[in-house]
Amino acid sequence: MASNVDPSISTLRDDPARQRPRWPATLSVIIHWLAAAALFGALAGGLFVHRLSSCCDVGHWTVYNLHASFGLALLALVALRILVRLLRPWPALPGHTPPWQRLIARATHTALYVLMIALPLVGWSIVSAPGCCHINPYVFDWFTLPSLDPAPIPDRTVAFAIHSALAWIAMGVIALHASAALFHHFFYKDDILARIVPSLRSSLYSRDKG
Ligand code: HEM
Ligand code: HEM
Repeated sequence: MASNVDPSISTLRDDPARQRPRWPATLSVIIHWLAAAALFGALAGGLFVHRLSSCCDVGHWTVYNLHASFGLALLALVALRILVRLLRPWPALPGHTPPWQRLIARATHTALYVLMIALPLVGWSIVSAPGCCHINPYVFDWFTLPSLDPAPIPDRTVAFAIHSALAWIAMGVIALHASAALFHHFFYKDDILARIVPSLRSSLYSRDKG
C-alpha cells in the first residue's frame, strides 16, 4: 500500500532540529492539558449559563460560578505556563515544516495566549462594571477575588459584547489548532502531536529505528 509519508521528512538521525530538546518539559505538557480543560470548561459554562432562562436562581449562579472559576483558573495556569516556557523553551518545529506552516503555528499560538489572558480579564471586567451586579468572582468556592476597580471596560454591555466575540473567536482558533495537530499526526506522520501526547512517543522511536 502506498505510504503518504513525505520522503523529505527526516528522521531522528538526520534532522538538525532534533539536536535541540525534542520534547517540551513534562510540566509544560501538563499545563497545556490543564489549560485546555479550563478553557473548554469556561466555554461550556459560558454557553450554558446564557441559555438558562431565569437569571439569578441557584442553578444559574452555580453554572456562572463554575464558569468564572474555570476562567480564572485558566488565567493562573497561563501565568505559570509563561514562566515554565521562559525557563524551558518549547522545542523547535521539525526541519521539514514549511515556512507558511511555521508562520501559522506561531500566529495561532500567539492568538491562543492572547485569548487565554483577555477572555478571563474581560469576563472579570463585566462583573466589575458600574451598574452590574458587582459580583466578586468566586473561585471554586475556595476564595473570592475582589472586583476590578475601576473596571477596565466601564460599559458592561460593551464588555459583554467583547467577551462573547472573543469566546467565538477562541472556538475557531482552537478548532484550527487541534485540526492542524491531528493533520500533522495522521497525514505527515511527524512528532508534533507526540509533543503533547507522550504516549505516542514510543511508536515514533520504533519507526525511527526501523
Ligand atoms: C483550549 C484548547 C487549547 C489551547 C488553549 C492550546 C494552546 C496551545 C499553545 C499556546 C501551544 C504552544 C505551545 C505552548 O506554549 O504550550 C500549544 C501546543 C500544542 N497543542 Fe494545543 N491547545 C489546546 C488544545 C489542543 C488540542 C485539543 C490539541 C490536539 C488535538 C492540541 C495540540 C497541540 C500540539 C500538538 C501542540 C504542539 C505544537 C508544537 O510543538 O509546535 N492542543 N497548544
Ligand atoms: C477563558 C475564560 C472564559 C471564557 C472562554 C468565557 C466564555 C463565555 C461565553 C461563551 C459566554 C456566553 C456569551 C454569549 O452567550 O454570547 C460568557 C458569558 C459570561 N461570562 Fe465568561 N468566559 C470566560 C471567563 C469569564 C470570567 C473569568 C468571568 C467573571 C469573572 C466571566 C463572566 C461572564 C459573564 C458575567 C457572562 C454573562 C453571563 C450571563 O449571561 O448571565 N467569564 N462567557
